[in-house]
Amino acid sequence: MTAAWCSGLRKRYRQRTAIGDVSLTVRRGEVVGLLGPNGAGKTTVIKMLLGLVRPDAGEVLLLGRPGRDPASRAKVGYLPELFRYQPWLTATEVLDLHVRLAGADVPAAARRETLGQVGLADRAGDRVGGFSKGMQQRLGLAVALVSRPELVVLDEPTSALDPIGRADVRDLLVGLRARGVAVLLNSHLIGEVERVCDRVVILDKGRVAAAGTLPELLGRPEVRLRLGNVGEEAEKRLGNFLRDGAEYVVLDAGEDEVPALVADLVALDVRIHAVEPGRITLEERLLDILREAK
Ligand SMILES: Nc1ncnc2c1ncn2[C@@H]1O[C@H](COP(=O)(O)OP(=O)(O)OP(=O)(O)O)[C@@H](O)[C@H]1O
Ligand SMILES: [Mg+2]
Repeated sequence: MTAAWCSGLRKRYRQRTAIGDVSLTVRRGEVVGLLGPNGAGKTTVIKMLLGLVRPDAGEVLLLGRPGRDPASRAKVGYLPELFRYQPWLTATEVLDLHVRLAGADVPAAARRETLGQVGLADRAGDRVGGFSKGMQQRLGLAVALVSRPELVVLDEPTSALDPIGRADVRDLLVGLRARGVAVLLNSHLIGEVERVCDRVVILDKGRVAAAGTLPELLGRPEVRLRLGNVGEEAEKRLGNFLRDGAEYVVLDAGEDEVPALVADLVALDVRIHAVEPGRITLEERLLDILREAK
């Protein structure tokens, strides 16, 4: 079922078209990545989805309700791009405040658990004013998650996090997906997106430049073979494959193609140093798409 949907969103700021025409869907139990260069419109799209910026045109549905109905946001968790909490509050008090503001009913134990999930259990009683950048971002995540939302929208959740924090967030997102929660996340850390997202929407200059599942965007994996002692017979057997320096590349390999090739090469006394799956990375694909669009 659809958790977030928008169609034909447009937004101008004075003479500048921030969003030309954006439609996208996030289904329950799906993690969708929103990618694109600075100024592409990612934050603006997120804000229009959440009713924080009024679109000039287009429609929004959140968890089955029209975006203009405030009740549509009752089960939505949001981590904004730029935020500051009241520095005199402790982490626990910030969570308490947001639970109250959301009108949610979250027992104290569950609030503590959420702080634990983002790695702040032992800083729960400390004032936010003394938090490091990454700790503030962790607290922002806790605020987004504490009320057990059905849709979670995260605008750059890991930009300030250390590698362990990023891995933690990845685990958190996988856990949310397993519970059927929908996640829309915007990040410049493309490796993160590639690891965790089911689908990706690439924005460029206020438009959707590409969208799809990772296999749709990246194509089938290739396989690279590093070989030694390649005799004449083996050369013949490898004749159809692309040669890239010392490696042979099997593009778009069928189910049994690689095992059959390896078996033949072994029979021909070829020494097999490596058989490695390779595929263009999402980062390479993203750069291609953005350069093509120029
Ligand atoms: N309040 C505003 N007033 C004027 N222009 C705005 C406003 N908010 C956004 N814009 C413009 O809309 C465009 C998209 O901005 P947006 O913040 O959505 O980009 P983004 O994709 O989130 O970029 P980043 O990766 O840097 O966060 C930019 O050209 C920006 O200058
Ligand atoms: Mg942004």
